Amino acid sequence: MGSLVNKRILLGVTGGIAAYKSADLVRRLRDAGAEVRVVMTASATEFITPLTLQAVSGHPVYRHLLDTDAEAGMGHIELARWADAVLVAPASANFLARLAQGRADDLLSTVCLATEAPVAVAPAMNQQMWNNPATQSNLTAIRKNAVRIFGPAEGSQACGEVGPGRMLEPVELVTLTSELFATGELDGLTVLVTAGPTWEAIDPVRGLTNRSSGKMGYAVAEAAAEAGAKVILISGPTALADPARVRTIRVTSAQEMHDTVHQHVAEANIFIGVAAVADYRPARAAERKLKKTETKLTLELERTPDILASVAALRPAPFTVGFAAETENLEQHARTKLENKKLDLVAANRVGADLGFAADENSLLLVEHEGVTELPVQPKAKLARALIRHVAARVRAKNAASVHVLRRS
Ligand code: C5P
Repeated sequence: MGSLVNKRILLGVTGGIAAYKSADLVRRLRDAGAEVRVVMTASATEFITPLTLQAVSGHPVYRHLLDTDAEAGMGHIELARWADAVLVAPASANFLARLAQGRADDLLSTVCLATEAPVAVAPAMNQQMWNNPATQSNLTAIRKNAVRIFGPAEGSQACGEVGPGRMLEPVELVTLTSELFATGELDGLTVLVTAGPTWEAIDPVRGLTNRSSGKMGYAVAEAAAEAGAKVILISGPTALADPARVRTIRVTSAQEMHDTVHQHVAEANIFIGVAAVADYRPARAAERKLKKTETKLTLELERTPDILASVAALRPAPFTVGFAAETENLEQHARTKLENKKLDLVAANRVGADLGFAADENSLLLVEHEGVTELPVQPKAKLARALIRHVAARVRAKNAASVHVLRRS
């Protein structure tokens, strides 16, 4: 079964006997790490109750398009934006027809029209209905609109007939849904990511650190793995679990992070420095716990190595991406960093009371030598995927250009 860690799956349930499997599907999607919200059509509620799906998903079930309470909470546009993927399972023949026509006459069809996220359907119906040319031409139409079709399987049906039209089993649907995120954009490449804060010891129990949670760096590592890269994550102390499919190496200080990065950088095609590395450390860490004796204590600090600049200075250097957390003059500070550290790209974000470090959402300004690209406020997991898509396109363009130069020389 694939991983859906950090993924937000909007599950649409339409009216068909296979809807009895939707509760199990919700459980399995959640077991794979997804957050699941459910939208039911009116006829789906004839087969399974909203209360069941509310209980297994842990969230209220959405049913009505024109519902003032629902719109005040999470309306159809918010739901469409919230989703990383929409899966309609079971998808009835009627729903496929409505999707093919681009109808927006209930909540589920409207969300499918309004979302930018990938949409997949798992058809379930009687085999005659599946084979009917009307259904088949609806499938051709929705396929053309980039909707993915999962299944159906063949076998004995609830109506007693045998043939194609059975909904795929929940486990198979979880695997196929996780594959929606596997873009292959970084296939064959190695990405080295730093994340989290560093801890600079003052004595055995005290140290200098910062408020970095590591969430953004971990999301970047996961997005790179999803895009097909081999990923090495070098993380300072965080409370986060090691991401799936990523080799995570835990370090403590800036020096240790620097040394570990340099042990692995030779195999990296892309380096993304997301860590909030301490700029200064105590010149000497006391071997024993410092006692309070004087009224004033002066700590002498020295600079830590700049990991990012040291990677960018390598020849050959990987495609090097830095992060810049700024409270003001975002673009200007980021551009100075881009030039001083000789980077390929700086991802700048605004930090303040509720922004940046511990928050789940963020925005980024991607500053490059050629210009800037704005990635609007969104959950960090989505933002990380957008950053990886951007970096992958740049790296592909750079590789294509160097192949061209090699051919000409
Ligand atoms: O210069 P500044 O600390 O603002 O730059 C931030 C960027 O530099 C981040 O990408 C951070 O990971 C990286 N950095 C580093 N080593 C340091 C300080 C910052 O790699 N000692």
